[in-house]
Amino acid sequence: MKELHYQPNRIARGLVSRRTSTIGLLIPDVANPFFSEMARGVEDAAIAKGYSVLLCNSDWNPEREQMYIELLKGRWVDGIVVVGSRSQASAIEASVGDTPLVIVDRRSSEFKWSVWTDNCQGAVLAVEHLLAMGCTNIVHIAGPNDSPSAQERRKGYEQAMSRAGLAGKVYEGDFRFASGFHIATMILEGSERPDGIFAANDLMAIGALQAAAKLGIEVPRDVAVVGYDNIPTAGYVSPSLTTIEQPSYEMGASAFELLFEQLTDDSVQGVRKAKFEPRLVVRHSSVKKRSSE
Ligand code: RIB
Repeated sequence: MKELHYQPNRIARGLVSRRTSTIGLLIPDVANPFFSEMARGVEDAAIAKGYSVLLCNSDWNPEREQMYIELLKGRWVDGIVVVGSRSQASAIEASVGDTPLVIVDRRSSEFKWSVWTDNCQGAVLAVEHLLAMGCTNIVHIAGPNDSPSAQERRKGYEQAMSRAGLAGKVYEGDFRFASGFHIATMILEGSERPDGIFAANDLMAIGALQAAAKLGIEVPRDVAVVGYDNIPTAGYVSPSLTTIEQPSYEMGASAFELLFEQLTDDSVQGVRKAKFEPRLVVRHSSVKKRSSE
């Protein structure tokens, strides 16, 4: 076999066994480190069990997502992990059909096999932290209205604000740097400048830090900023970004483990879910110094 440089042909093997030891992984934004960390988690766990991963990027586009699901099924993948989708649960389940599926970043009640964090609770942690830092005029740069995680974070923001007896203001972004930058520029230039910004992800929060720097507004003295995800970059921007951590690598690894269970354990009854807890990571963008300091 060595002399002839023999390479086993996965497709030929798959024809016999009806298994390809390959899974599909569909993420919404390959440029967002939250999803690339998660993809690493899926891939490392898959390789450890002898599987390969076909990575697809939907670019937040539901049509492209459907197109990739069809393509993956055509390649005979053994199972599919779908991350952070904005499509309806029923649409994803219908197009995936009988192929084993794990959904990540969507609430458990919608999907059978799923991995997620409590987005509402994460947003409450963010707002309560800003309140504890003395902020009284906190605005929310939300994710897209049709994103379930964005909706839950917005709900958490509104709950925490109303418990504190404060009225809030929500601006819809799209989970990318530029929307955080443009929305924050507009808000910070306005007549009612907020003293706190809670952005629904780190990319938009980093955009907001850039907007403040460009306008000569000091963070956190004039406005405190909190993001969401804890991407690796959050610790390296200036000032370093306070954020709500979702353990993206571990969530990815756990998604593969759930898929593996479906693929290999015929005795599995019912469904499995893995819920992770959001965690506040305090850095310099939110901790206001007292006047005596
Ligand atoms: O950064 C992208 C965001 O969209 C993440 O917070 C993730 O939870 C997703 O829904």
